[in-house]
Amino acid sequence: MTSVGIDAIEIHTGKLKLDLAETFAPEMGDDPEKYTKGLGLHASSFPDAYEDIVTMGANAAHRLLERKGLEPADVGRIDVATESAFDNSKPVSTYIAGCLEQVYDGDFHHANKGERKFACIAGTQSLDDAVNWILAGRNRGRGALVIATDTALYARDSSGEATQGAGAVAMWITEDPDIVELSTEQGYGSADETDFLKPNQQFPSVDGKRSMQVYLARMREALQDFERATGASHPNDYAFIPFHTPFPGMVRKAAVLGYRHMIRGTDIEEELAADIGRQPRRERFDSDDAFEDAISEYVDGLTDTDAYREWYDAAIQPTLSISSQVGNWYTGSVHLARFSALKHAAENGIDLAGKRLLVASYGSGAQAEIHSETVQDGFTEAVAASTVDEQIEQRYDISFAEYEQVHDRHNHEKSVELEPFTQPDAEFVFDGWGPMNERKYTYVE
Ligand code: HMG
Repeated sequence: MTSVGIDAIEIHTGKLKLDLAETFAPEMGDDPEKYTKGLGLHASSFPDAYEDIVTMGANAAHRLLERKGLEPADVGRIDVATESAFDNSKPVSTYIAGCLEQVYDGDFHHANKGERKFACIAGTQSLDDAVNWILAGRNRGRGALVIATDTALYARDSSGEATQGAGAVAMWITEDPDIVELSTEQGYGSADETDFLKPNQQFPSVDGKRSMQVYLARMREALQDFERATGASHPNDYAFIPFHTPFPGMVRKAAVLGYRHMIRGTDIEEELAADIGRQPRRERFDSDDAFEDAISEYVDGLTDTDAYREWYDAAIQPTLSISSQVGNWYTGSVHLARFSALKHAAENGIDLAGKRLLVASYGSGAQAEIHSETVQDGFTEAVAASTVDEQIEQRYDISFAEYEQVHDRHNHEKSVELEPFTQPDAEFVFDGWGPMNERKYTYVE
């Protein structure tokens, strides 16, 4: 069968940085370690005054097209995933195509454009759509541009404020890709939930604690459904497991759940039994509560074992490094986690070619998807070309007073002018509103 997957990835981070331990925690009256240790977050990225979901997506896509030497004629499809859209009719992909047409001779009139919505999992759904389009043989030799772009802002003084972020991930999907090939087996866990939603409002209504339980429940279902297609998974099957990462602490909880599930009935459970016993089986307990207590105790023991720690440090920790510096990027988050792991491997000379990743996506509302990917020979070169480290390093570090202004500037209900903190440099910028209340964009040399 044709190999289809991700051939190139480019990232654009919002140009501002809010330091959570130094700047945010003191104003909230919190211990900085709640952020750095509890949530696992050091900083959040924010958009500067001239940035939004279109500029971030267009700038990531432009860099990707330039690096690959692509022209509009090569692009058969532009899919944008976002949960920060500002228009209920005209998709963000049309604005991004309009931006790109300012800097290329050709146009994207032949390209199918759309916008996917299902909270954070829309990024993976767009990726799946693009892969399916190519596997169906409808692409006529062209590739698909998939862009996940969000300004993940929460209402001021709400529980989610600590987990904000802004940025875009652009992915180029082709046959014979350089980075990863996607498996055709997928597992889903999907249910009508009201843990996090935006009913015609910019900032989410969120039940933070319940959202974590829903995340774990849907993830468990998705893994079980995946295994119905592929057979049992074993931790050693996967070099890395990138999860949707609203904040690294959430992944800590999801990882131990996944590990416990995967080692059940295996050599690993057997070897650990002398130290921490076997996993509790439901049939041995009189009540759900007693069973849950036994599971908690087992999990506490499990996370302290060398076997678990070594696995976590190798397969999970490297997926979290970018996220801990930029916060939640919603639709882009799991794609940032994959990229983070690949970058770690490239930088540390880990030969991943032919190895597999288990990609665990999630969107509130709620749905999880698990699929596997096989890393391709060209991944090191493809990932080494990224400028993400420089972008993160060069962000302007805002004070708390500046943060308040930036949040207001990006609040759709306020109309706040704000002098930018940074200078645009060879990029698309927001340039005001047109007569039909459309947003306008310009390329600044
Ligand atoms: P909170 O009340 O601000 O924080 O809410 P907390 O008091 O629960 O503390 C957080 C962690 O820090 C806890 O760790 C504390 O113990 C620890 P845990 O017990 O959970 O392991 N902590 C400390 N650790 C060390 N030193 C200290 C200290 N103090 C506390 N001094 C919450 C946290 C996540 C609820 C909040 O940030 C929130 O509402 N976030 C938004 C919702 C969210 O991100 N949910 C995640 C799952 S849903 C999802 O991922 C989907 C989403 O991306 C949207 C989409 O799909 O579109 C959000």
